[in-house]
Amino acid sequence: MSHNRENFGSLTTAIFAMAGSAIGLGNIWRFPYIVGEYGGAAFILIYILATMLVSLPIFVAEVTLGRRSRSSAYGSMQKLRPDDRRWKLAGIMSVLIPMVIVSYYSVVGGWSVDYLGKALASEFISEDPSTVSSLFGDFISNPWLPLVMQMLFLLATLVIVALGVKSGIEKFSKYSIPVLFVLILVMCIYSISLPGAGQGVRYLLHPDFSQISPRSFAYALGQSFFSLSLGAGTIVTYGSYMRSRENIIQTSAGTAVSDLLFALLAGLAIMPAVFAAGIEPGAGPGLIFQTIPYIFSSMGASMPVVGTVISVVFFLTVVVAALTSSISLVEVGVAHLNEKYGLSRIKACIVVFVLCSSLGVLCSLSFGPLSSFTIFGKTIFDFCDWLISNMMMPLLALITTLFIGFALKRSEVRDEITNSGTVNGKVFPVFYFILKWVAPVFIIVIMVTNFIL
Ligand code: PFF
Repeated sequence: MSHNRENFGSLTTAIFAMAGSAIGLGNIWRFPYIVGEYGGAAFILIYILATMLVSLPIFVAEVTLGRRSRSSAYGSMQKLRPDDRRWKLAGIMSVLIPMVIVSYYSVVGGWSVDYLGKALASEFISEDPSTVSSLFGDFISNPWLPLVMQMLFLLATLVIVALGVKSGIEKFSKYSIPVLFVLILVMCIYSISLPGAGQGVRYLLHPDFSQISPRSFAYALGQSFFSLSLGAGTIVTYGSYMRSRENIIQTSAGTAVSDLLFALLAGLAIMPAVFAAGIEPGAGPGLIFQTIPYIFSSMGASMPVVGTVISVVFFLTVVVAALTSSISLVEVGVAHLNEKYGLSRIKACIVVFVLCSSLGVLCSLSFGPLSSFTIFGKTIFDFCDWLISNMMMPLLALITTLFIGFALKRSEVRDEITNSGTVNGKVFPVFYFILKWVAPVFIIVIMVTNFIL
């Protein structure tokens, strides 16, 4: 069933919405600890190359698929190649993947909401630094509080999505993205000004290639996929809201550069503070929830007001960034229910809420009462994250590149990317070559590496 489709109002708002999807927990929560674990500045260099040379062309492919088909991710390939039923599987994957991601993403989103509350109540300042680090363990193993916070986060996401593409998603991203950049810059300035921060800055800027292992390459590309929201149906769906006169390569490059810049700023906001406090950079997933409050509490006694303000700025950044990403994830399911079954956005949001909160509760409880329930040795949360980011997202991205490279005719792809020959004529052959021959090989390599390492 086809409905009047809404569109993003301009090139800038399309970039803001896509950057909103890209900039999220992946940049602030995951990027700094992965950099810490897999090679510091040398890892960052590989990450930049992976983003520009491999992920950006795949991003262009996803936007192209969405805009050419003018369909949400589920029906996009079917609409362009209705006689070939093989692509149906990709449609099903593109609805399931974002739903599973929201289920566990909202767990960390909920933690961030709770930590924002703690920051507002100056809790890190009044606690003794040694108890602040243990706050995290106590909080995530409590069965109720994380669940309540997760539901609050999910509800906030759904309210924005229910308002629609223009009045909800576009408006929210248009205001949040500039605010996010200002907030992260404030954090960077603060962090770099701390005594002893220079060592953290050096860690981010001076590559030491002896720290690089084969895993660093696989993680750099995997992180770049997750960060650019590739292989999850969201960019295809957002691409379908882009007006036909807009430049696909400009929008994609604008998004990739904003995402990259934000990740680097997040690194600069976090690492110098981590070094200033004498904490190990490879502290793992608890890095921002354990070490950042620790830093605030250890400096809190001398500067309580600054400590409170900066901790609020930090966790506000995390919550807003997480929201702009989770709205893009929910939009895939909502657009699908709307297009295929004619459900209104509100009804579709309710269905998505019921499904995602059911799996989401299990993901949240896997840090507490369900921690001993494991699948292949992983808790429910870890299993969902591993399956989706290491396997399903690369697989869907691979199918998408094969669809664009082999199922569509070169002239169709050219027509869409160059706006019927009016823009991007010179760069098109380079993008097309990478998409068809280079990107699929890289994706297969990451999948195999992730599987065996
Ligand atoms: N790119 C988001 C982040 O870095 O946090 C996560 C994400 C959002 C992944 C949307 C996939 C997606 F479809």
